[in-house]
Amino acid sequence: MQASAQAQPNVALVKYWGKRDTELNIPAVASLSVTLDALWTRTRVTFDPALDEDVLRVGGQSDTPSNQVERTTRCLDQLRRLAGIDTRAHIDTENNFPTGAGLASSASGFAALVTAGAEALGLKLTAAQRSALARQSSGSAARSIFGGFVELDPDSGALNGTATPLLAPEAWRLEVTIAVTSKQPKALGSTDGMNLTARTSDYYDAWVGTARGDLHAARRAVAERDFDSLARVSERSCLKMHGLMLSADPGLIYWNGVTVECIREIRALRHAGVPVFFTIDAGPQVKAISLPGAAAQVRDALRTVPGVLDVMHSGLGQGARLVPEGPCG
Ligand code: PMV
Repeated sequence: MQASAQAQPNVALVKYWGKRDTELNIPAVASLSVTLDALWTRTRVTFDPALDEDVLRVGGQSDTPSNQVERTTRCLDQLRRLAGIDTRAHIDTENNFPTGAGLASSASGFAALVTAGAEALGLKLTAAQRSALARQSSGSAARSIFGGFVELDPDSGALNGTATPLLAPEAWRLEVTIAVTSKQPKALGSTDGMNLTARTSDYYDAWVGTARGDLHAARRAVAERDFDSLARVSERSCLKMHGLMLSADPGLIYWNGVTVECIREIRALRHAGVPVFFTIDAGPQVKAISLPGAAAQVRDALRTVPGVLDVMHSGLGQGARLVPEGPCG
């Protein structure tokens, strides 16, 4: 009745924003991401018949906001239904990076939770089944079940909204440098932000209508290891998503001033010949993707941008997997 799993966040190069089905949490558009290796979530799930409700501890602390406990319970409820039991669980989880600040802690969090929870209940689920279950809690979590380059196309596959691996992390060793520009949790979570955007933006239909072209361009760039094409489509998808967010009513601004300065720095590096591009999610952190060998130069440049609090580095890593020990030993 106990198991532990580790999962890593992923960074979308072709972005998902908006839901086709809010009940099942099926994305409105397809996305393509890379799974990281240096950042991780480790989660231990222990089902305990003595409990009346799930008990969630994050980093050893039990004062978790109630909405996080509810999301965790809803995710485990799916597994309990499959196992035909009602037993509650202790969930101990730990991240080695700031949570809720646009670093995709929900992606690694739910991928690890589904993987550990399914094992603890003895459910023999395929990776695709775990991906579909993780998606119901967080769209991007479906992608963290897999490593390397991963696609989530709501129009393909037997289970709607299941991610599929495209390329192993060793096949193209891109590097990711993350400039942390704020450690504050984001003002508006992605689900609320997506719903507001879909309801109020005049640009929403154009966003949904053009996303497939971006997916195809990125898929081709990955298959051909064509960095320049991947840079072009990734920055386009990112800026289009933030343009869409800005066009909601009221407009959603996830960036701060330092975010913009980091974008300028990365573009200056690229114009000077450094193979690097940027992407940004629903938060102010900037992720710089570069070819092997360029990361040290990217890191040094981002460190000099006034207001950057921290710079992290990661390669590409594996999907969610069981580990012998959970958090805190
Ligand atoms: O996983 P969610 O539902 O929190 O949505 C994540 C959305 C973005 O990170 C902004 C883009 C993406 O595709 O990951």
